[in-house]
Amino acid sequence: MEYELAPSMLSADFGNLSSQFAEISSAGAGWLHIDVMDGHFVPNISMGLPVIKSIRSCTKLYFDTHLMISDPLLYAERFAEAGADSITFHLEAADQPEKVIECIRKCGKKAGISIKPGTPAASLEPYIDKVDMVLLMTVEPGFGGQAYIESSTEKIAAVRKMADSRGLDTDIEVDGGIAPDTIDRVLDAGANIIVAGSAVFKGDIRSNIRFFEDAFARRGK
Ligand code: DX5
Ligand code: ZN
Repeated sequence: MEYELAPSMLSADFGNLSSQFAEISSAGAGWLHIDVMDGHFVPNISMGLPVIKSIRSCTKLYFDTHLMISDPLLYAERFAEAGADSITFHLEAADQPEKVIECIRKCGKKAGISIKPGTPAASLEPYIDKVDMVLLMTVEPGFGGQAYIESSTEKIAAVRKMADSRGLDTDIEVDGGIAPDTIDRVLDAGANIIVAGSAVFKGDIRSNIRFFEDAFARRGK
């Protein structure tokens, strides 16, 4: 299995983004997790299209775009144009999830679907064979720095089983509260894309990233 760390930009120093990107890249990260919040689907507002467009020119990091917005169908194409590499939307926010997936694919981007902690794993069944990635929220979406919700571990295992039983190698991304004390349980349960905000940007970025890379290496990355 391929593992990937996706440092969450939400915890970066917004006054020094290009140097923060250079630092995470040189420490070995290949992805950047970008949290888009609209103040409607989630009770917070973060960043949107012009920011993505502008940072696209200062880094080659893979833009893993997490849309925490209502009506993702209306905006997916514009996030693709702005420079997203993958676009993940929330199942709870989409009236026609298949149409959103189709739209993302038509734009030539990887498609991901996400569910909040209270949404059952079984709700992914109709879509798991149509997406590249499932993003399981392991905290309530909206804010960085929250504690991992313990019941997420079972859910990760259930989704990995769902993918395996269909012969799919779907990426399973986890997002929220992933840190040195929670990384092993999410990897053991079957997650392979790890979002970490506070655990990357607080303290020494290089040694923080090394910690995650070592956890991946123990599993044979
Ligand atoms: C929360 C966001 C997360 C957040 C994770 O809604 O989706 O990506 O930045 O932050 P940490 O790793 O600090 O929990
Ligand atoms: Zn996120």
